[in-house]
Amino acid sequence: MRILVTGAAGFIGTNFVYYMLSKHPDYEITGLDSLTYAGNIGNLERALKSPSFTFVKGDIRCRSDVTSVFDKYSPDIVVNFAAESHVDRSIDSPAIFLDTNVLGTEVLLEEALKHDVKRFHQISTDEVYGDLPLEKKNLRFTEQSILRPSSPYSASKASADLIVLAYHRTYGLNVTISRCSNNFGPYQHEEKLIPKTIKNAISDNVISVYGTGENIRDWIYVIDHCKAVDTIIHKGKDGEIYNIGADNEISNISLIKMILKALNKPESLITYTADRKGHDLRYAIDSSKLQKELGFSEYSEFNNKLAETIMWYKISAIK
Ligand SMILES: NC(=O)c1ccc[n+]([C@@H]2O[C@H](COP(=O)([O-])OP(=O)(O)OC[C@H]3O[C@@H](n4cnc5c(N)ncnc54)[C@H](O)[C@@H]3O)[C@@H](O)[C@H]2O)c1
Repeated sequence: MRILVTGAAGFIGTNFVYYMLSKHPDYEITGLDSLTYAGNIGNLERALKSPSFTFVKGDIRCRSDVTSVFDKYSPDIVVNFAAESHVDRSIDSPAIFLDTNVLGTEVLLEEALKHDVKRFHQISTDEVYGDLPLEKKNLRFTEQSILRPSSPYSASKASADLIVLAYHRTYGLNVTISRCSNNFGPYQHEEKLIPKTIKNAISDNVISVYGTGENIRDWIYVIDHCKAVDTIIHKGKDGEIYNIGADNEISNISLIKMILKALNKPESLITYTADRKGHDLRYAIDSSKLQKELGFSEYSEFNNKLAETIMWYKISAIK
């Protein structure tokens, strides 16, 4: 089996490459990444030593880059992680989000169709559903929930989902989409909440919190996400969407306080700032379809994995 992983030098792409190399040592994996500010080739240092892994620097928006990768490596499966992924950056500069997340996905789809790939898997996000009120704890997004994205980031991801589904309906391309909640674990860029909090806490720097910090996110350990994607690309049904969540709903402020406690740092490091524009209140995801239809049940224990993650960033900061 030959798998093309786009965005392989980013946070989840890197974890997915390592997971697939250990789970399927007989697969040939090609990583494609343009190495934006968010991509770090150093993350893939161990993978680059494997004869099963090849890295190609290239841009999913560039047809000649994408064509040459498909011609040379003839993937059976494409997993598209490549994206601009930071909500705050999308509020400041939306255009690049449409360019990469929508038009880049279309370039990949066109090439996947030409090469008759067996499966195109789009990595989407639960943020395409918008947010839920804080007080209605029983509400969760299902795959049938309407798309109501709030930020230019989530709107670009929702648009990409629609073009993926259009390629399925119009041209018969074999596709699946997964919509996952917030990931945590190693190799994440330090602009994101968990690594940023750990880094600032270690250096006794101020930790800025948007608004009151009561916004709730549903956290999943990144390798659990990778396992779910592996399940979907092998067992998922053509044309279907699968939510991926782990039922770990925590407010941002509680999560920050947990990290401070683990690092033995005072809560006085926290300062509250003006809220993010259009800030989503609560995400909560129903992943029963993935569990019932594909038998997925591999979830890590949140507290253990958070402790491991904090340790990983602490060690990385010393290196
Ligand atoms: N991080 C999360 O919590 C989360 C949750 C749900 C879904 N997702 C989705 O998962 C995917 C990966 O997210 P992440 O957190 O690893 O993001 P990331 O920003 O860490 O990595 C994105 C990678 O894509 C690469 N890239 C960007 N533009 C490119 C282009 N034009 N051509 C080729 N490569 C390009 C970057 O260099 C980077 O390596 C994204 O599609 C994101 O929407 C992320």
